[in-house]
Amino acid sequence: MNIKQFDVIVIGGGPGGYIAAIRAAQLGFQVACIDEWKNSKGGSALGGTCTNVGCIPSKALLQSSEHYEHAAKHFSEHGIGITGLSLDVAKMVGRKDNVVKQNNDGIVYLFKKNKVTFFHGRGSFASVKDGIYTINLKGDAEEIIIGKHIIVATGSNARALPGTPFDEINILSNDGALRMGAVPKKIGVIGSGVIGLEMGSVWRRLGADVTILESLPTFLGAVDQQIAREANKAFTKQGLKIELGVKVGEINTNSSGVSVHYADVKGEAQTLQVDKLIVSIGRSPNTVGLNAEAVGLSLDNRGTIVVDDECKTNLVNVWAIGDVVRGPMLAHKAEEEGVAVAERIAGQHGHVNFNTIPWVIYTSPEIAWVGQTEEQLKVEGRAYKSGSFPFMANGRARALGDTTGMVKMLADATTDEILGVHIVGPMASELIAECVVAMEFRASSEDIARICHAHPSLSEATKEAALAVDKRTLNF
Ligand code: FAD
Ligand code: NAI
Repeated sequence: MNIKQFDVIVIGGGPGGYIAAIRAAQLGFQVACIDEWKNSKGGSALGGTCTNVGCIPSKALLQSSEHYEHAAKHFSEHGIGITGLSLDVAKMVGRKDNVVKQNNDGIVYLFKKNKVTFFHGRGSFASVKDGIYTINLKGDAEEIIIGKHIIVATGSNARALPGTPFDEINILSNDGALRMGAVPKKIGVIGSGVIGLEMGSVWRRLGADVTILESLPTFLGAVDQQIAREANKAFTKQGLKIELGVKVGEINTNSSGVSVHYADVKGEAQTLQVDKLIVSIGRSPNTVGLNAEAVGLSLDNRGTIVVDDECKTNLVNVWAIGDVVRGPMLAHKAEEEGVAVAERIAGQHGHVNFNTIPWVIYTSPEIAWVGQTEEQLKVEGRAYKSGSFPFMANGRARALGDTTGMVKMLADATTDEILGVHIVGPMASELIAECVVAMEFRASSEDIARICHAHPSLSEATKEAALAVDKRTLNF
């Protein structure tokens, strides 16, 4: 057998893995990337969870369903009348599949451009000798490849409720939730986290009656609570039913759908009968098939690969990044770690600032934040100033007809350094970028307040929130 040798072998072709591979190739290394994801025809589909069943398809359906809801409910406010509005779910899902395919193909192109060798199949550790790792490849062909540096980027899988495995027909993970062929009358969602809210919004906008059951008594506990309350109000007004503090019990699948037995917040027994149940209770790191034992790669008791701040594992020259290691399960976090590791392999100083990783929930209103929440600052005992500005007072938001929410800025009471920015409202996903840049450069709220922002724009709400920190808003 002809054994191919590489400087860097990346296992996993999601946003962590494919970006690490490209950056390593840019730095002059011979790079291989192995990815086992199969499309519906059994072919390769680079991009991992993010491209195939995560970020990209969910945003495609969020956009389509938002168009539908606008046409059905909001165009009339602009004097636009529509008769005979119809919905073709198969076409909508088909469009989403095309968007996914464009992204899959884009990565194949990028690999060719950067001379990354791609292997479609499963990569697993076989052995290590004299600092060279042997990786077994099982897929389109069975091969052995060897390399000095290994970057593990094998991602994560949806977590099922104990005793209720996903069948993707009635009990759906994110995968099934993204490819329903018709709008069910009633949908249950377990978990009011990011996926529950995004997927719940998609199917509610398309006409389903959606109930979300959440075990915690607090809505979006990791989010600044003033922002979370505002979002909860908006979602409830839209018709999303969210029950907090429940204890989910037995789940039965029958001919009429799925019955979810649970105790409500008062401890009273309830049953929710739905056509489909989406379970979105978090994700587990994926090391199945990696054969970590062969080389003694350390995992913790949850299956997470143990790494230090620089993504180094317990093994020399074996690195791990993205969802399979500690930290937030976000595509951009995986990408940043991928770039940093490639640069460290090249002897450079890779940089990931965990304090400035933005979060976005792509609901309507969108929720986005960076840095610390007010609750976290209180626990820390840090003296802070807070300023907020409602979109209701922003001219562009009024023109858009989307005035829900606010921008809230938190700054150190003495130095005025921005400690966190929390947004609920239109285009929060884009507005947060300015705040990330500001925090990365350790800006003060006064810095933002003194910067000229285009008028009329939503970004003026950020400037006004900065002015509000010093109690001198101009438009509110
Ligand atoms: P993954 O994307 O999971 O990729 C891992 C790849 O490795 C997969 O292709 C897998 O098949 C492959 N693999 C695993 N084991 C092997 C092996 N042994 N050999 C070969 N290949 C292997 N994040 C955001 O930042 N923004 C969003 O809007 C967003 N939306 C999301 C929506 C949904 C519904 C979901 C489920 C997730 C979303 N995420 C979002 C999270 C994001 O998808 C993940 O954080 C991101 O994909 C993690 O990247 P990764 O490279 O670590 O792993
Ligand atoms: P999540 O961690 O965001 O939310 C899970 C929710 O389920 C939590 O509120 C939790 O309290 C609740 N829960 C857990 N067990 C439960 C039970 N037995 N009964 C009722 N509720 C229960 O996880 P989710 O939504 O599955 O998403 C996984 C990850 O994927 C996210 O944490 C995020 O990192 C990533 N993601 C990111 C997106 C984005 O950036 N826009 C979009 C979607 C996913």
